[in-house]
Amino acid sequence: ASTLGEAAAQTGRYFGAAVAANHLGESQYVTVLDREFTSVTPENEMKWDATEPSRGSFNFGNADRIVNHAQSRGMKIRGHTLVWHSQLPGWVSGLPSANDVRSAMNNHINQVMGHYRGKIHSWDVVNEAFEDGGSGARRQSVFQQRLGDGYIEEAFRTARAADPNAKLCYNDYNIDDANAAKTRAVYNMVRDFKARGVPIDCVGLQSHFNAQSPVPSNYQQNIEQFAALGVDVQITELDIEGSGSAQADNYRRVVQACLAVSRCTGITVWGIPDHYSWRASGTPLLFDSNYNKKPAYNAVLAALNGS
Ligand code: G3I
Repeated sequence: ASTLGEAAAQTGRYFGAAVAANHLGESQYVTVLDREFTSVTPENEMKWDATEPSRGSFNFGNADRIVNHAQSRGMKIRGHTLVWHSQLPGWVSGLPSANDVRSAMNNHINQVMGHYRGKIHSWDVVNEAFEDGGSGARRQSVFQQRLGDGYIEEAFRTARAADPNAKLCYNDYNIDDANAAKTRAVYNMVRDFKARGVPIDCVGLQSHFNAQSPVPSNYQQNIEQFAALGVDVQITELDIEGSGSAQADNYRRVVQACLAVSRCTGITVWGIPDHYSWRASGTPLLFDSNYNKKPAYNAVLAALNGS
């Protein structure tokens, strides 16, 4: 196969990209998006500050533009994200009581998932709920502080009812190393959810890699361990700092690790050309700023083709 999407489809997987609505008028961007990718994730447009900037007032304009584009091209759509401490409008943290936070969270999930019901293949229901570092502790978000540990479970139960056909994911970064305390904490939460029947279908490994945070040697083992809990694994925000053959080798390793695990169902890169990456400096993506295919692109395509 000669494109990322077709190559991934040979093993039943999708290959996606994070997409920004304000680039959809750019012909080179759309040409590459439509040619190469079979899934999209709105990079910012489905986040709480974009969809519910003030309480009960919903705005889906930019997210709808991405969804409509994807649907017209037969692409899958990942929903990102419902409950997250960041890009959270100030009114949520300013709510007076725990019950207000609870009802705001559940209403947000119901309204956003309801608007897109039947159109989203996977939702990042809760994003980045654990601290970095060695503690394995919960991040002290407004949800954690006001509602306690149970908010994650509650969000997943609400989400299941809001769109029963969407796969429900927990998504995080720095959970790529099987031995890291943060990874173990997420693993234990997922194991507990499965044991108690809390609805969860997938774990998203964001997989933002750079020199300080390289692709771990046990990355495939980590995917296998999550999959063994009875959830799918999706690589949701892949980008890898670097250039040339070193960057290509790292991308190849990530793709091969996913392909080796049947429950690793798809890969999303966090942007298309380097100059639109969230990393202001650096070249972490598969296309350069002129939309030329980089060595990393060729390595990913070859790996998806099984060579
Ligand atoms: O929309 C405003 C615009 O009106 C304003 O003029 C401009 C000036 O700074 O800012 C714009 O908002 C920016 C937004 O991206 C849209 O471009 C924010 O400042 C900027 O902080 C925001 O960054 C996003 C970041 O999440 C915020 O946390 C990145 O684009 C996005 O790639 C990044 O994605 C996250 C995932 O959601 C979760 N995992 C980590 C990943 C990388 O940080």
